[in-house]
Amino acid sequence: MKILGIETSCDETAVALYDAEKGILAHDIYTQAATHAPFGGVVPELASRDHIQKLLPMVKAVLGRANVSLHDIDGIAYTAGPGLIGALLIGSTFGKALGYALNIPTLGVHHMEGHLLAALLEEDAPSYPFLALLVSGGHTLLVKVASLGQYQILGESLDDAAGEAFDKTAKLLGLGYPAGAKLAQLAKKGSPTRFKFPRPLTQKPGLDFSFSGLKTYALNTYTESSKGEQDKADIARAFEEAVTDTLVIKCKRAFKMTGLKHLVIAGGVGANESLRQKMAVMGAELKVRTYFPRFEYCTDNAAMIAYTGYLYLALAGKKDDTLAINVRPRWAMDTLT
Ligand code: KG4
Ligand code: ZN
Repeated sequence: MKILGIETSCDETAVALYDAEKGILAHDIYTQAATHAPFGGVVPELASRDHIQKLLPMVKAVLGRANVSLHDIDGIAYTAGPGLIGALLIGSTFGKALGYALNIPTLGVHHMEGHLLAALLEEDAPSYPFLALLVSGGHTLLVKVASLGQYQILGESLDDAAGEAFDKTAKLLGLGYPAGAKLAQLAKKGSPTRFKFPRPLTQKPGLDFSFSGLKTYALNTYTESSKGEQDKADIARAFEEAVTDTLVIKCKRAFKMTGLKHLVIAGGVGANESLRQKMAVMGAELKVRTYFPRFEYCTDNAAMIAYTGYLYLALAGKKDDTLAINVRPRWAMDTLT
């Protein structure tokens, strides 16, 4: 069984082909970073237009690389939300139309569920139940995963998502777009001790997050500094330390509360090296296991969409029941259960 996966929820066009026996046969990610860079952030209309241009050639290229013809595909999964409505519409319309033409089932997938399940694509995969820390540009979620589709949200961001905080702080330091990875890069040159930023909400009980105050903290620190390159690097480092420490503190708390032994970390911020190192230390300390999908499956990709689609289409017997457009720009994850 082969499932084609399509991801167009934001500023990456991605296509993947998943095979039930062999795993991911081929996948491709095209980032629109250069298109949006002059504007300092994602311009939704430009994102949609770019997806239109890239999607068809990318599907052809991925099928070609996998040496699979269109008629060998058994189902199509596309990201139905959350995301930019125009961008989502490109992938969903394409997926549904192609599925209709080939007379095969299609399914709209929840983008964050895709991130959550990406770790299961790896050879060394966790087994249910496990904890998941989802840290992307739009979401920060701590989830108890009992099994496929059984998700209990233990904590979430009350304001900016972790990735959003990275992006906004990078922007005010003048780092441009795509910002999170640039800030992480700069942080490597920064002092770990010069500035100490707060670890928000760690003094209070509970598993929710709040990162928006950190960008104000960063801005104030920057305004009071001599605004040199080293100042920026030191602020980037202090910010990164604060976010990653906070995430680790909350994960430790979640382990204590649930008694679970496995943690999946996924979403774009999961690509952060400092976070990966700290989580590894936590794992050794608490005798728990942490699982990170490989870098290319951490940030937006279609492998996770193809795989999630496979689990539901093939194993759970779910599929789109109409041709009607069903994208959901806002789609709370707890409604999946
Ligand atoms: O999961 P993702 O690719 O897209 C969304 O679903 O949002 O996550 C993108 C987010 C952005 O906010 C970006 O700044 C952040 O992930 N990000 C990083 C790193 N690479 C990407 N944040 C911190 N460190 C990184 N190395
Ligand atoms: Zn994402």
